[in-house]
Amino acid sequence: MARASETDMTEGDETLFRMLRQLDLAPAATQRAIAAAVGVSLGRLNTLLRAATEAGLIKVDTRQGPDRRQRFSYVLTPRGASEKNRLTDIFLARKLAEYDALHEELTGTNSGLAPLKFRAKLMNTNLSPIPELYVSYESAQKLKTEAADLVSWDLTPRQICDLELLMNGGFNPLKGFLGKEDYESVVETMRLADGQLWPMPITLDVNEAFAKGVEEGQDIALRDQEGVILAILSITSKYTPNKAREAEMVFGADDLAHPAVNYLHNTAGDIYLGGAITGIQPPMHYDFRARRDTPNELRAYFRKMGWRRVVAFQTRNPLHRAHQELTFRAAREAQANLLIHPVVGMTKPGDVDHFTRVRCYEAVLDKYQPSTTTMSLLNLAMRMAGPREAVWHGIIRRNHGCTHMIVGRDHAGPGKNSAGEDFYGPYDAQELFRAHQDDIGIEMVDFKHMVYVQERAQYEPNDEIADRDSVTILNISGTELRRRLREGLEIPEWFSFPEVVTELRRTSPPRSKQGFTVFFTGLSGSGKSTIANAIMVKLMEMGGRPVTLLDGDIVRKHLSSELTFSKEHRDINIRRIGYVASEITKNGGIAICAPIAPYTATRRAAREMIEDYGAFVEVHVATSLEECERRDRKGLYKLAREGKIKEFTGISDPYEEPASPELRVDTEGAEVDSCAQQVLLKLEAMGLISG
Ligand code: PPS
Repeated sequence: MARASETDMTEGDETLFRMLRQLDLAPAATQRAIAAAVGVSLGRLNTLLRAATEAGLIKVDTRQGPDRRQRFSYVLTPRGASEKNRLTDIFLARKLAEYDALHEELTGTNSGLAPLKFRAKLMNTNLSPIPELYVSYESAQKLKTEAADLVSWDLTPRQICDLELLMNGGFNPLKGFLGKEDYESVVETMRLADGQLWPMPITLDVNEAFAKGVEEGQDIALRDQEGVILAILSITSKYTPNKAREAEMVFGADDLAHPAVNYLHNTAGDIYLGGAITGIQPPMHYDFRARRDTPNELRAYFRKMGWRRVVAFQTRNPLHRAHQELTFRAAREAQANLLIHPVVGMTKPGDVDHFTRVRCYEAVLDKYQPSTTTMSLLNLAMRMAGPREAVWHGIIRRNHGCTHMIVGRDHAGPGKNSAGEDFYGPYDAQELFRAHQDDIGIEMVDFKHMVYVQERAQYEPNDEIADRDSVTILNISGTELRRRLREGLEIPEWFSFPEVVTELRRTSPPRSKQGFTVFFTGLSGSGKSTIANAIMVKLMEMGGRPVTLLDGDIVRKHLSSELTFSKEHRDINIRRIGYVASEITKNGGIAICAPIAPYTATRRAAREMIEDYGAFVEVHVATSLEECERRDRKGLYKLAREGKIKEFTGISDPYEEPASPELRVDTEGAEVDSCAQQVLLKLEAMGLISG
C-alpha cells in the first residue's frame, strides 16, 4: 500500500536532494565532481547552486587549501541541513512504498513494515539529543580506577567550568581542549581548523613544571579541587601560546584592564595542552542543583513542554524591570517561549555573587507565566569578550536547544580600557552576531538600550522614542545602583522590584552596616595598642556590630606563638592577621588590628584580602623612633640597643612608613582620647559609622 502523500517528490526536489547530499558529504569537492555525482551538466549545476544559495539552503565558504591558497566551496546552512533531512525522509518513504508494492505483488500480502517516521516533523533539530563526551556509567567506574595511576592535573575553577560544558555538549562541536592548529585558527579566524565557527579559545593552560613532565600521546587525569577525577585528557598537542596575539585577536587589545587579558597574563599557565576528553563525571554542584540543566536536559524539557521556538536571555546581573520588559518583548517578537539563562560560573570580578542573584531571579520568576517561561543556570566561565563572546553565547544557547537569543547593548562588555575608553562599541556584538547568524544556527533578537518613560509609565527602547523632547526619560546605571545600595539611598519602584531590592540590600547593606577593618601600623611603643583599645570600647559603646581586637601582642600569643621576627615570619604574621580580619569583615564585624606591620607589600596584601568584603582603614601611628625609645614602656628598646634583642624594628630592623594611609596620627603631645577621636571622625567621614 503506497503512502502517497509522504512520497511525493518532484524531479526538481530529487536533483536538489542529490546536490545537498553531495555537498554535505564532500563540501571540498570540485564543481566538476559534484556535477558528475548529481548527474547534471556544469552549467545546470551552477544554476542549481545559485538558486539554493538564494533560498538560504547553502552558502559559500572560504577556506585555506593545503597549498595555503584560498578555496571556495559550498556548505549547507542549518536550513539546508533540515531541507536535506526532509527530502531524505521523502526519498526513504518512497523506497518503502515501492517495497510495499513489490511485496504485495509477489506475495499478495502487506509487507507489515511500519511507516517511516518523519524525522523533520517529529523532532526539530534544536530539540534532538546533542552528543556528550561522557562514557557509560560502567566504563566510568572502570576508567576511574585506571585513571588513579595517571599523572593528574588539578583543574582551576575556570577549567572546571570549561570542562563541564565540553563534556555535556554545551561547547559542541568541540571534543576536547584545543590543540595548536585549532587554537591558532580560532584566534586568527574565529573558526576551527576544519572551518566550523568557534570564536573562543578553550584551552587547558598548565605551568611549565607540569608541562615538562607530560608529552603528546599521553593520557592524564583531570581532577576537581577535591581531587575527584572528572575526565581523561588524551594529549595530542603541547604548545606555547602567543598570549599577546591571543589578547589582541580575541579580546581586541593586549590591555591588562580587560579581565580576561589580565587572567591570560597573570593567572593562566604558560603552556597549553590540547586533546580529546573522555568524560567520567560532571563536576559536583551543591548549590541550586534543581536549577541546573545540561543541554540535553533542556532539550528534553522543551520537547516535553512542546516548545519549538525558544528565546534565551543571557545575564550576569540581577533582573530589574527593564530586563523583564526586554524579555517580554523579545518573546513576543520571536513568537517564542522564554528561557532565562543566567551565568553562575564565573562572571566579571566585582559582580553581584550568584547566590544573591539566583535568589533575585527566583523572586522575579513569579512575574512570568510559568507555562511559557523557565529559568536554568549555566555554569559558564565568561571572558567578557564582547562581540566574540556574543557569538560564543549564541552557539552555547543553540546547543541548549534554543532557537533565538537576545543580544542587547554592550553584550558581555568588560568596561573601560586603561585609557578610560570602552573596549567595544555598544552594538559591536550585535553586528558580529548578525554576520554569523546562519553559522551559529540561532536567530538574534536585538535590542537597543531600554529606558523608562515617566509620562507613559513604561520601558521603551531608547532609540524608538520619537517624542523624546517632550517626555521624561529615566535610567539608573549599574554604578549609580551600587552607590545607592552602598549609601542606603532609595531605589525607585519604576526601576526594580521590591523583592529584588530587599535581596540586594541584604548582601550589600549600606556602609554603616557593613563590616570593616581598622589597621593600625607603627613602631613598637608608638601607642597603637592604646588607641586601638580606646577605639574598640567606643565602637562597642555604639553597638550594632561585633568588634574584635587583634593586637600585636595578643596575636603573637594566640595565633603566631611559633613565629620569630624575621622578615619571612613577620610576613606570615601579618597575612594571618589579614585573613582573620577579612573573615570578620566578611561576616559584618569590625576588626581592629594593631601589629607593627613594617613592610609595605605585606600591608598591601592584607588590604587586598579585606577589600573584597569591606573597607580597610589604614592608620599610621606616626610616633617618632626617638619618642618611642624615650618612652620605652616595655624596656625593649634598651635591650635592643644592648644587642640583647635582635632584629628589633627601628633599631636593627626596617620600618617602611605608609605612603598614603587613610589616616596618620601623631601621638606626640596629644591625648589618647583626641587620637581616638581623629580615628572616629575618619570612620564617620567614610560612612562606616553613622550618627
Ligand atoms: S610584626 O612585625 O608586625 O610581626 O610585629 P608584631 O607582631 O606587631 O610585634 C608585636 C610585639 O612584639 C614585641 N617585639 C618586637 N617588636 C619588633 N621587633 C622585635 N624584634 C621584637 N621582639 C619583640 C614588641 O613589643 C611588639 O609590640 P608592640 O605592640 O608593637 O609594642
